[in-house]
Amino acid sequence: MFLFALSPIYGDFELLELVSTWPATFCYAYGCSRRPIPKNFTIHGLWPDNRSTILYDCDVPPEVDYVQIEDHKILNALDKRWPQLRYDYWYGIDKQYQWKNEFLKHGTCGINRYKQPAYFDLAMKIKDKFDLLGTLRKHGINPGSTYELNDIERAIKTVSIEVPSLKCIRKQPGNVELNEIGICLDPEAKYTVPCPRIGSCHEMGHKIKFR
Ligand SMILES: *[C@@H]1O[C@H](CO)[C@@H](O)[C@H](O)[C@H]1NC(C)=O
Ligand SMILES: *[C@@H]1O[C@H](CO)[C@@H](O)[C@H](O)[C@H]1NC(C)=O
Repeated sequence: MFLFALSPIYGDFELLELVSTWPATFCYAYGCSRRPIPKNFTIHGLWPDNRSTILYDCDVPPEVDYVQIEDHKILNALDKRWPQLRYDYWYGIDKQYQWKNEFLKHGTCGINRYKQPAYFDLAMKIKDKFDLLGTLRKHGINPGSTYELNDIERAIKTVSIEVPSLKCIRKQPGNVELNEIGICLDPEAKYTVPCPRIGSCHEMGHKIKFR
């Protein structure tokens, strides 16, 4: 993919990582109140990041805060792609804890470029560009079986092009499960870039369960 070597605007971050959760594994590991548990990847968060240091809890002006989302169209669009799995639907919509937490912990690291509405809008747009489940299925990787990490990574790279970040969970010894997939993009989300941190799956073994 091509690079704009001299981008005129340079933000306070170097890349964006869209982190998508596989709900079956997340809910198995941490517990969820949301029903039904979605059978597709959902957004965990959009993380502005730097290559040499992880960005989160960035210093932002005190007036930067989460603004409760009330527009029904936005709420529906968000809930469809970014359900707050820990909570049931109504509690989630009322408190918006997950959205708030992601925005305050990560979104604010990109606040010079993306104010709150732009942040959520961008996360949804990126999500819609990558059908991770369809991509895995196309490469013979289906929920319910165990696969080689390399095969999972190779399948994801057909859409991410660059190195993704694969995050796993090990609840019991010998049982490593794919929990999240991060795809990294340039600050304007025009093209993909290699994720600076390849994720925890690589250090947990090469046999990965896709629950
Ligand atoms: C992140 O990267 C940007 C651009 O290189 C830089 O301006 C900023 O200071 C970095 N932030 C941290 C916390 O290192
Ligand atoms: C899963 O979500 C993607 C968008 O991220 C969508 O394109 C795809 O159709 C969905 N798959 C199913 C089986 O719902």
